[in-house]
Amino acid sequence: MSDSTTPPPGCPAHGSAVQLGGLEYQQTPSHLYRTMRRDHGAVAPVLLDGDIPAWLVLGYPEVSYVTSHDELFARDSRRWNQWPNIPADWPLLPFVGYQPSVLFTEGAEHQRRSGVITRALEGVDQFELARECESIAEKLISSFGGSGQAELMSAYAHALPAHAVLWMCGVPRGSGDIEQLVDDLRISLDAGEGDDPVAAYMRVAERITQLVKEKRERPGPDVTSRMLQDQADLSDEEIVQDLITVIAAAQQPTANWICNTLRLLLTDERFAVNVSGGRVSVGDALNEVLWLDTPTQNFIGRWAVRDTQLGGRLIREGDCLVLGLAAANTDPQIWPESHVGAENSSHLSFSNGEHRCPYPAPLLADVMARTAVETLLERLPDLVLGVDPSELTWRPSIWMRGLNSLPVEFTPALR
Ligand code: HEM
Repeated sequence: MSDSTTPPPGCPAHGSAVQLGGLEYQQTPSHLYRTMRRDHGAVAPVLLDGDIPAWLVLGYPEVSYVTSHDELFARDSRRWNQWPNIPADWPLLPFVGYQPSVLFTEGAEHQRRSGVITRALEGVDQFELARECESIAEKLISSFGGSGQAELMSAYAHALPAHAVLWMCGVPRGSGDIEQLVDDLRISLDAGEGDDPVAAYMRVAERITQLVKEKRERPGPDVTSRMLQDQADLSDEEIVQDLITVIAAAQQPTANWICNTLRLLLTDERFAVNVSGGRVSVGDALNEVLWLDTPTQNFIGRWAVRDTQLGGRLIREGDCLVLGLAAANTDPQIWPESHVGAENSSHLSFSNGEHRCPYPAPLLADVMARTAVETLLERLPDLVLGVDPSELTWRPSIWMRGLNSLPVEFTPALR
């Protein structure tokens, strides 16, 4: 046994743990993952903000193993052995701090909560969703189409999935407060300078509580009403928590999926020919982004239920594991010829196992992203990048890969 001054062997807080952050993440994280894999193998000791130790799982088989063994690596973050070292203002608290939502439940309780979400999402008609997304896209394009230029991240990619998911949940399209709600969602998930994310989150929670009350009284053909009518009989508080999770989980990754795909289409010469109307190319680009530039780069996380081994490492009870989804997608073990392609959809961008992005959410996200990209290219067929590709910069996040902005130019469209 080690005394209190001797670190346990393999402790991620000591030795050559890698700082998980920094400039390299913003531009070329794939290089960093390759170096980490070379230096540390499939499971690397890392330091999160404030030098808090954790493990980054980089290997495809290892991420698959962790996510399919809930009895060893579970979701309830309250078992973390680092809580005594976490300050009250720790920046990752919103993602790691326990909340009574589907995200942190386990076992039978998770199946109960997740089953309600799955059944409610299954009721969404994909053709109707596509029509709604097209109509949202048309409206957004008409707001900037006459000017010949736009910044697509804020004017399009963010707004489209936010409006679409609120529509799925039954917020009436014409309701007076929808723009405020879309803006509050953006601020609470991805605050900019001068924004107050806590106040924005409180307003979102208040509006969703009101939505649940309205749907109790007057149900409709929407996700919220189906969750309320489900046989699992969740309480209103549980439904509010899980609806906020669904809305937040849908909005940010889908927005960055759209923007990263547009970037690929506008910068990679393989897609340059006949991109507008090239439906096969759009599908290819969407899939390639999930393999090579996935929005969900790293996901925090899982917590070890007991001492165990992973990738040759001793993992202690209560250790935190970050799922390196992007690193796993480019693991040389699954791309032995050192060619990384995108032939199929067995990437881990939607994660894996019990807590994976719940079926049919990835299909609905695909409808939103595909419709967003295709409608834009159809309406603005001569769309080009407004800056040199080298001027595009990535947001300084190790969790969500997305651009700071995507400026474009095009022939002004008649309204
Ligand atoms: C309609 C759009 C979407 C909806 C409604 C949705 C919904 C959800 C929900 C409810 C969860 C929590 C699952 C649980 O803990 O049991 C989740 C998890 C997740 N989603 Fe999605 N999502 C959407 C789009 C996306 C996209 C576009 C991506 C990535 C490209 C993505 C990646 C993930 C990942 C990585 C997790 C974490 C899974 C884990 O803990 O292992 N989602 N999603």
